[in-house]
Amino acid sequence: MPFSDYKTALVTGASSGIGAAVVERLRREDIEVHAIARSAGALKELAERTGCVAHVIDVTDRQAIADLADRVQFDILVNNAGVDRPKKFLQADEEDIDLLVDVNLRAVLHICRLIVPGMVERDRGHVINISSIAGNYNFGGNSTYHAVKAGVAMLSNQLRIDAFGKRVRVTEICPGRVATDIFNHVHGDDPSVRERFIDGFELPQAADIAEAIAFAISAPVAVNIGHMEITPTLQVMGGLQTAKPQAPAETSASKEPGP
Ligand SMILES: NC(=O)c1ccc[n+]([C@@H]2O[C@H](COP(=O)([O-])OP(=O)(O)OC[C@H]3O[C@@H](n4cnc5c(N)ncnc54)[C@H](OP(=O)(O)O)[C@@H]3O)[C@@H](O)[C@H]2O)c1
Repeated sequence: MPFSDYKTALVTGASSGIGAAVVERLRREDIEVHAIARSAGALKELAERTGCVAHVIDVTDRQAIADLADRVQFDILVNNAGVDRPKKFLQADEEDIDLLVDVNLRAVLHICRLIVPGMVERDRGHVINISSIAGNYNFGGNSTYHAVKAGVAMLSNQLRIDAFGKRVRVTEICPGRVATDIFNHVHGDDPSVRERFIDGFELPQAADIAEAIAFAISAPVAVNIGHMEITPTLQVMGGLQTAKPQAPAETSASKEPGP
């Protein structure tokens, strides 16, 4: 489908990284792009540079999203906003679990609820959900992040069933490591974070992910690209671990002298 057949797009998490690159790429096709994030300054700069329409909105603010969805008929929806908290599940804080569920999954569900029925009604639309390799593979990381991204992956498959019979396309973009500021957002601004995750690695850039999204959108309308896994060439998933049982830690009770 030529890009020109789609007129409008909504991109969440547009103030940095992949979201900002997607806004920039879609604007090159003259699409009216509505960009959502919480950082007003970065959005203003993006709007000045690309001509997108900036909305300082938290994706968890259902009313604000509903108001926007009432005003604009979106042809393209890019669910990109995402956060992570680096803790392993055994050390997880209550509020970290809520944040990841709220931003990475609950908001995606509600935004789809508010926008996809209109696409189905108009027989035209394309939903792009940014998940992660964490949603499809197991590796060391935050298990809550894995769980919610798996939810986004399954939602992407399921949406196609719900929209069946209409020309509503759904693409799950499943990135491995991409060179964005997400690692600083997750681990803090310390320069060692860049050294650990970015410096010296050959990584896809945010613009590469935006280009893959553009490829999926520009395919003929008869073609649905359902899933794109995009990793660095020098990154693989997997790794089998086998442990020997360890003696249980001695409890204070077992240290008590016997009767
Ligand atoms: N980079 C990677 O290696 C990688 C790998 C796999 C998957 N991903 C996924 O790709 C997506 C984009 O990540 P990125 O690398 O571009 O990260 P990023 O640079 O940290 O961007 C995250 C974006 O999400 C927005 N956001 C966070 N919470 C929000 C909220 N409550 N409401 C509205 N916007 C919110 C942020 O904007 P504000 O803070 O201004 O709100 C920011 O624009 C995420 O879903 C991430 O999980 C990234």
